[in-house]
Amino acid sequence: MTNKNTRKYKRHTVTAALPYANGPIHIGHLAGVYVPADIYTRYLRMKGEDVVFICGSDEHGVPITIKARQEGITPQQVVDKYHTLIKDSFREFGISFDVYSRTSAPIHHETAAGIFKTLSDKNAFIEKETEQYYDEENRQFLADRYITGTCPHCGYEKAYGDQCENCGTSLSPTDLINPKSTLSGNKPVMKKTRHWYLPLGNYEKMLRHWILDSHKEDWKPNVYGQCKSWIDQGLQPRAVTRDLDWGVKLPLENTEGKVLYVWFDAPIGYISATREWAMKTGNDWKKYWQDPDSKLVHFIGKDNIVFHCIIFPVMLHAEGSYILPDNVPANEFLNLEGDKISTSRNWAVWLHSFLEDFPGKQDVLRYVLCAAAPETKDNDFTWKDLQARNNNELLAVLGNFVNRTLVLTHKYYDGKVPEIIDPADADLKTLESIKDFPSVIGDNIEKYRFREALSQMMNLARLGNRYLTENEPWKLIREEPEKVKTIINVSLQICASLAVLSTPFLPFTAQKLQSMLNISVKDWQDGGDTNFLPPGHTINKPELLFEKIEDAQIQLQVDRLLQTRQDNNTGNDHVPYKEAIDFDDFSKLDIRIATVRNAEKVPKTKKLMKLIIDAGSGEFTIVSGIAEHYQPETITGRKVLWLANLKPRKIKGIESHGMLLMAENNEGKLVFLTPEKDIEDGSIVC
Ligand code: MF3
Ligand code: ZN
Repeated sequence: MTNKNTRKYKRHTVTAALPYANGPIHIGHLAGVYVPADIYTRYLRMKGEDVVFICGSDEHGVPITIKARQEGITPQQVVDKYHTLIKDSFREFGISFDVYSRTSAPIHHETAAGIFKTLSDKNAFIEKETEQYYDEENRQFLADRYITGTCPHCGYEKAYGDQCENCGTSLSPTDLINPKSTLSGNKPVMKKTRHWYLPLGNYEKMLRHWILDSHKEDWKPNVYGQCKSWIDQGLQPRAVTRDLDWGVKLPLENTEGKVLYVWFDAPIGYISATREWAMKTGNDWKKYWQDPDSKLVHFIGKDNIVFHCIIFPVMLHAEGSYILPDNVPANEFLNLEGDKISTSRNWAVWLHSFLEDFPGKQDVLRYVLCAAAPETKDNDFTWKDLQARNNNELLAVLGNFVNRTLVLTHKYYDGKVPEIIDPADADLKTLESIKDFPSVIGDNIEKYRFREALSQMMNLARLGNRYLTENEPWKLIREEPEKVKTIINVSLQICASLAVLSTPFLPFTAQKLQSMLNISVKDWQDGGDTNFLPPGHTINKPELLFEKIEDAQIQLQVDRLLQTRQDNNTGNDHVPYKEAIDFDDFSKLDIRIATVRNAEKVPKTKKLMKLIIDAGSGEFTIVSGIAEHYQPETITGRKVLWLANLKPRKIKGIESHGMLLMAENNEGKLVFLTPEKDIEDGSIVC
């Protein structure tokens, strides 16, 4: 697998976008970033190249602090949970990072702060004082996401300070009508603050030369186009610091309460992770980041283009010791069953769930995500397509060909590779054409055309299938045994090539196939040669490479998505959970069982009902807002849940002791929570 057109580098530094540690990995991430990056890296390793494949969790930024508040835990607890989940699922899925680090690691704080300090010492920043919204009660500046208010464009009342999710407009916090702090609910005040800006415009010439003049041919059109439009629009200074207490602290005096902007520190995470790897393995990290003979490639999704093509390169360039990326092969987005993947709407196929539901089928998902990768346009994942690709391609083409060949080898030759005897033209032609595949596949991979590379690999299996079908060795075995030896030999050579060439795409299958053939990719010679699988070599017993995926398995997944869609439509999913409480908070509630002895409407009100309840120890009066939902006579005699220790208060002149606990259904109707069995009044609910 060689590519003659490209410059020869000494080593490769391959990065995959650091996923935010505030949610699990889904198929969109995989198809856009991790599967192509892993194919690329496995291919380079197979070629014997020196490569380091880097990733880790992106653990800073405002969304993580918001999630922590919502769940009543610390940001560190949020990222610990997702870092582990993400790391484990990547490993099980066969994403072969050399290191999976995290940006909360001390080595990262040190590296990121160090680069900021160097830039600051070189006067690469401008400092500006601006006014920003501040929450006086919480004594904290408010990130855009911590401010809500009314959208000036559409009137939606829950727009965020950076965006209205109703009409999609990007906003700045001062655009909001009636801004409110989400921390205290108060109206925020304007307060002066100081921030550090990276004046991107100063680097316009360098960017024009480096991207627009030098990478028109080899960068993807979408990446090149986005860069060009950013540069042509005029590059504005970007704030690289924030007032926040979660992130990398500024390494400067008198900067309490300030951290690096998450998009300043996260890409430096690639460097920190490389340092961590180098320390563990006794390598020199600098070679991979500072030697111009190293080829740096960033795999990302399209929403990350500006950060990887403009801001991070400007940072590295300003620092002075670093190389810039040779390419940034960004992908478009993958949709799911026709809709945009969304973590908050749970519209996703989660990697950890897939691994649970389809054990041992990593390669099936890898195959589908590569075959339908959103390389040049957004693409759609459907469960039916996964089933079809498994059953009609992996199983019917690749699995079937390998299985037929290996079974016949055992049947006719006791598992020993037969000799080629007096080959016909068609045999020689087939042997010749096997040799073309490595370079075709390799070229495509080096040009980041992974779909095409994969389809070429499958074409080799198709060629094998056709060769077997056309030659029908099972019909010749009696009359022309010599000929069959040649046919099986040639078929086995194809299997051996597949065992190698499938490695980057389907590593688990390739491994199985190699052990079935009793060969190792290490002995593979570029271009293929028959000594790889010589006559007389004994192969092992075949096992099936793929299993049929049944309709029922697929229906289960489709039903699950239908349920999610329904939940989203009925709004079930939209009621956010309240902030987490301690058990102590809960145990303050005194909830008991009681029986309603009497019920009457409170005169001159629509909603209120006066109830007398029997709590075992005595009777109490309650005023409850259920008059619109129930007639008094249907309530008398009912067992109810009673919150006993709510401080008594007067409602319409009646003193109410505690309250009834009820559930509200979809239509807003209140429903009684009646004990399953008869139980004494006064029983404690716990
Ligand atoms: N966490 C970001 C995202 O998921 C990607 C960060 S890439 C890095 O969009 F370069 F900043 F690390
Ligand atoms: Zn709006």
